[in-house]
Amino acid sequence: MAITFKVNHPVTTDQFIGLLESSSLGERRPIHDRDCMDGTISNSNLVVSAWDDELLVGIARGVTDFHYACYLSDLAVHQHYQRSGIGKRLQSLTQEQLGPLCKLILIAAPAANSYYRRLGYTHNDRCWVLDAGVTIGN
Ligand SMILES: CC(C)(COP(=O)(O)OP(=O)(O)OC[C@H]1O[C@@H](n2cnc3c(N)ncnc32)[C@H](O)[C@@H]1OP(=O)(O)O)[C@@H](O)C(=O)NCCC(=O)NCCS
Repeated sequence: MAITFKVNHPVTTDQFIGLLESSSLGERRPIHDRDCMDGTISNSNLVVSAWDDELLVGIARGVTDFHYACYLSDLAVHQHYQRSGIGKRLQSLTQEQLGPLCKLILIAAPAANSYYRRLGYTHNDRCWVLDAGVTIGN
């Protein structure tokens, strides 16, 4: 299996949705909201992808300023290709695009919660999320 990795190579909305479904991450993403999925892939400014020939088999979808913070909004690997080093490589290639002070920040899916510590991430109790639709209070 020869996997090719690409930085900011075009990924269509259908390819992106297909990968989310095949990785199981689709259960946790609004994959039936086409407008949302179009927007997430087209507005990401650092997308590292993994390909088996023409098939998209992995993605690290980042939103970043390249200097201070990179929010890794999706990390997904096709279930038939998991645990073969693709996820790790997607993250190291992402990191290579960033400046020396730039952090990677993400919210883990429950099934992947123990994955990140072994790669060197630290857990942060002070991460806060304001859910969509919640009005900022006083
Ligand atoms: C989580 C995910 C991105 C990891 O990518 P991957 O290519 O399968 O993982 P890698 O091959 O890079 O794994 C690196 C190491 O972590 C381990 N690992 C992989 N998935 C793991 C998990 N879910 N939990 C704990 N450890 C895991 C691997 O066994 C491997 O260990 P090794 O180096 O000792 O062999 C991928 O399995 C996936 O897409 N899962 C479903 C969607 C998901 O949960 N995405 C994360 C959203 S935050």
